[in-house]
Amino acid sequence: MQDSDANRLFPTPEPLLSIFFCYSALVPVKSLSFPSNIPFNVTHEFFLREILLNHHLKQYPPSESYQQSFWKWAIIQLESFTRSNEDAEVDERIYAHYLSLRTGACSETPPNSFITYHWRFPKTHRYPTEEDSYETITLLESRTTIEAGTTGLRTWRASLVLAQYLVQHPYLVNASNVLELGSGTGFIGILVASLQLQTATPTVDRKMPSVYLTDVNSTVLVRCRNNVRLPCNKSSPHPNMQYKSLDWLDSLSGQENLESFFSEAKVDIVLGADIVFDPALVPPLVKTIFLALLPEPTQVAFIALTVRNEETLRYFLDEIGKVLQTEEVTRNNAGSLLLQIPDQVDAELEVKIFKVTRGRDTQSPTNCEELRSILRSI
Ligand SMILES: C[S@@+](CC[C@H](N)C(=O)[O-])C[C@H]1O[C@@H](n2cnc3c(N)ncnc32)[C@H](O)[C@@H]1O
Repeated sequence: MQDSDANRLFPTPEPLLSIFFCYSALVPVKSLSFPSNIPFNVTHEFFLREILLNHHLKQYPPSESYQQSFWKWAIIQLESFTRSNEDAEVDERIYAHYLSLRTGACSETPPNSFITYHWRFPKTHRYPTEEDSYETITLLESRTTIEAGTTGLRTWRASLVLAQYLVQHPYLVNASNVLELGSGTGFIGILVASLQLQTATPTVDRKMPSVYLTDVNSTVLVRCRNNVRLPCNKSSPHPNMQYKSLDWLDSLSGQENLESFFSEAKVDIVLGADIVFDPALVPPLVKTIFLALLPEPTQVAFIALTVRNEETLRYFLDEIGKVLQTEEVTRNNAGSLLLQIPDQVDAELEVKIFKVTRGRDTQSPTNCEELRSILRSI
């Protein structure tokens, strides 16, 4: 199977597919359920061929410690079948693999791991996707919420929710210059680049749009670039991926640099996922979004927020509402492969997406002076 081709796993019973998607995304085994109503040979073949011998997962495997708990669980479940069926036997390769994991997988802190997320292109005439095909996004991620003093080394749920929204509204990004604030691991960047490459018809005079991935943390930016460039990701051949160090706090002190960057970048759409978490960062973040939307009246931002603290959300909405127009968008998660994976960190929390624009009264270019005065007041 070529990396660039859509992957296919069907026909496969849904419960087995679900285990495959969960294994790829390192969902703890306590959240998995083993299907008891599927014949042993079907389940066994699936675990052997589609999970253990899977070409992609051999190249980009889940961490050894995760595999250890997964294969222990799988062996117990498969062996329970064999007790009631004399002809059933667990393949030696499954035992051998499990035993090969036992040494060297006992570290206290969970090690970084490859994680593979699954998603599907929307079914439209521009994306002739088959019912049974799916795409992957693979990232090297931290397995803790904070590592090396940053939250940016893992993908947060708000990114998955925003990604699902973009998958359902690909026209927002596929011909647009995109800028992401607080990009973290690069998940959204990979998705946007994949959507752009799927529909792009670059000609001599029509370049591929730019995707600017920005973050304050240099380690995070390096990880982001490495993830975008992984050969298995559809984003890897995108010719216009840009990685830029951008600190929202610069909007308070080095505003001219940010202004000139935003006006040169000619960004059409600004994205941000899980970037509202610290009340102290709300004013600089709001000002950064404002500056990013300043050059063109048609620019728009989509910000996905995990509601951890109602007060912080209210503060953000009050502050941004003073200078920009915000509107919560309606989401539809039906059929999402991304969101069917049980979440481990923000499981119970709501994610909201806000569309942010300059609003009707500041859309006209003649209102530039008005914008400048708003800017001075932030
Ligand atoms: C919770 S993580 C979200 C990462 C990613 N968007 C996601 O959803 O997976 C917050 C991100 O904001 C970045 N960040 C924090 N403070 C920042 C600042 N002052 N300027 C720019 N980025 C910042 C962090 O480095 C981190 O990548």
